Amino acid sequence: MSGFFAHLEPYAGDPILSLNEAFQKDARPHKVNLSIGIYFDDAGRIPVLDCVRRAEAALLAESRPKPYLPIEGSPAMRRAVQALLFGEGSRVLADERVVTLQTVGSSGGLKVGADFIRRWLPASEVWVSDPTWDNHRAMFEGAGVKVHAYPYYDAATGALAFDAMREKLDALPAGSVVLLHACCHNPTGVDLSREQWRTLVPLLRQRRLLPYLDLAYQGYGDGIAEDAFAVRLLADEGLSFFVANSFSKSMSVYGERAGALSVVCADRAEAALVMGQLQATVRRNYSSPAIHAAGIVEKVLTDPALRRDWEADVAAMRERIAAIRRRLHELLVAARPGRDFGYFLSQRGMFSYTGLSAAQVDRLREEHAVYLVRSGRMCVAGLNGGNVERTAAAFAAVL
Ligand code: LMR
Repeated sequence: MSGFFAHLEPYAGDPILSLNEAFQKDARPHKVNLSIGIYFDDAGRIPVLDCVRRAEAALLAESRPKPYLPIEGSPAMRRAVQALLFGEGSRVLADERVVTLQTVGSSGGLKVGADFIRRWLPASEVWVSDPTWDNHRAMFEGAGVKVHAYPYYDAATGALAFDAMREKLDALPAGSVVLLHACCHNPTGVDLSREQWRTLVPLLRQRRLLPYLDLAYQGYGDGIAEDAFAVRLLADEGLSFFVANSFSKSMSVYGERAGALSVVCADRAEAALVMGQLQATVRRNYSSPAIHAAGIVEKVLTDPALRRDWEADVAAMRERIAAIRRRLHELLVAARPGRDFGYFLSQRGMFSYTGLSAAQVDRLREEHAVYLVRSGRMCVAGLNGGNVERTAAAFAAVL
């Protein structure tokens, strides 16, 4: 008897998550995981931040009941997120123009926002950078929204194709949604400068485009507040926009699914409408978010001692990545003199776009047990003192 599901297409797997699973199964002891966007410490472990440990100890000691959170999440966590993103004393917060929901990671926020766009802005199509995080397109298309790409990365120079990007955005229909990485672009590590962000503002306003910021790597670029520059700029300039943010990387709490979605609206009345329809969207999706994630984020952001320690931890993670970038660069320059590896230094955050072809990436994996995403994206945070030399030698061998 044939089953109900025999006609299903086999799932090809996810370009990032499936690769990470393949890495786990690889028995070679010298294997190096540069695939997934996770911060590993110099010993190759996912750190448990001391501030998170203490926040969790306090939560355990309080032994609070665990009711359902409201659909929009914990009020204290949402307030703390707003201050983190927009800054204490922000005008848009004082004017009550910002709606923030705690979501299931920033992916949950992106999906809720995508469903909302599909339902309430049905004529709007989404424009993502070329390239972008592998899952952006799938998420919006999965919500029934048409997705297109705008130029972003110039493979010839390894830098931002800003003129081409601006030209394209300038030609989009009014109401188009433009997905922008607020910092530490995934996958290229190539960001807009502050000046370039400022140049985009009048264009976004005049063309009536709706920015959708993805802020998953806050703190890994220049600093926690510094990496919120684009969020604060757009808010100060009076634009309406979405921002999905994550604590997965910045607090090293990946599996807690701690994130939020904020929408900056034209005024308070509009914000109330947006909140209502986002609540309806969440209720239809997963009903309400996780209480443990809210507790951690709230405590770390609002307890002064925990907050201070968190900021120091984030700075240490950022600085370790910068140092290992310099080391890799030094090793590659020595191994392949005359070749330009400067992009490892200029690209920021967790990722670098290596320019390696899919065939070269396959060789790295098969012959050297070094795992990168097939686009050539490398998670620099997977490098450490114990594997950087072997990795540089493997790169030099396939280049
Ligand atoms: C990544 O880009 O590797 C991370 O954001 C993890 C993921 O879910 O893809």
